[in-house]
Amino acid sequence: MTAVTRCLAARNRGARNVARKMGLAAITAALAIALAGTASTQPPGAAETPRPTVPIKELMETTITDASNTIWGAYDPPASSEQWAAIERAALALIEAAKVNAVGGTGPMDGEWAKQPAWKPFNDAMLQASEAALAASRAKDHDALLAAGDALYPPCEGCHKLFNPGVVNQE
Ligand code: HEC
Repeated sequence: MTAVTRCLAARNRGARNVARKMGLAAITAALAIALAGTASTQPPGAAETPRPTVPIKELMETTITDASNTIWGAYDPPASSEQWAAIERAALALIEAAKVNAVGGTGPMDGEWAKQPAWKPFNDAMLQASEAALAASRAKDHDALLAAGDALYPPCEGCHKLFNPGVVNQE
C-alpha cells in the first residue's frame, strides 16, 4: 500500500464513522422526539405503570377471598414452617391485591368506585391488616396474626356496605 492509498483508506474509514455517528444522532433525535411526544400526553412514569387485568369482582372472589380465608383460618397456631409459609404467601397475595384494588380493575364500575373518597380508607385498612399479617407470619407470632385477622374484617364489611350492599351478610 502506498502512502496515498493508506491515506485515502483512512479518510474513507473516517467518513464511514461520521456517517455512522450521524445515523446514531438521527436515531437519538427521533427517539427524543418520540419520548417528548409520550411525555406530553402521559404523566412521567405512566408508560411503566402496570394495568390491572381483572375486574374487582374477580379479584375479590379469587385472590382476596382465598388469601383472607387462609389468614382467618389460622385459628390454631400454625404447627409447621410450611403452614407459616402458606400464611406468608396469602398475606403477600392480599397486599398485591389491595394495591390493584386501590386503582380499580377492569370492571365497568371499578374506576368510578376507586375514585370515591371512601374507597381509599377502606382499602388502606385492608392493606395495613395484610401487612400486619405478613409481619406476624414472618415473626411466627400467632397473637399478632390473630390481631391482623381481626383488623382485616372491618374494611371488607365497611367497603361492601357502601359500595356493594348485596355482599354484606353473605357468609
Ligand atoms: C375498598 C373496597 C373493598 C374492600 C376493602 C373489600 N371489598 Fe370485596 N368487594 C368490593 C366491591 C365493590 C365488590 C363488588 C364488585 C362487583 O360486583 O363488581 C366486592 C365484592 C366482593 C365479593 C364478591 C361477592 C359478590 O357476589 O359480588 C367477595 C367474595 C368479596 N368482595 C370479598 C372481600 C373480602 C373477603 C374482603 C376483605 C378481606 C373484601 N372483599 C374487601 C369492595 C371491597
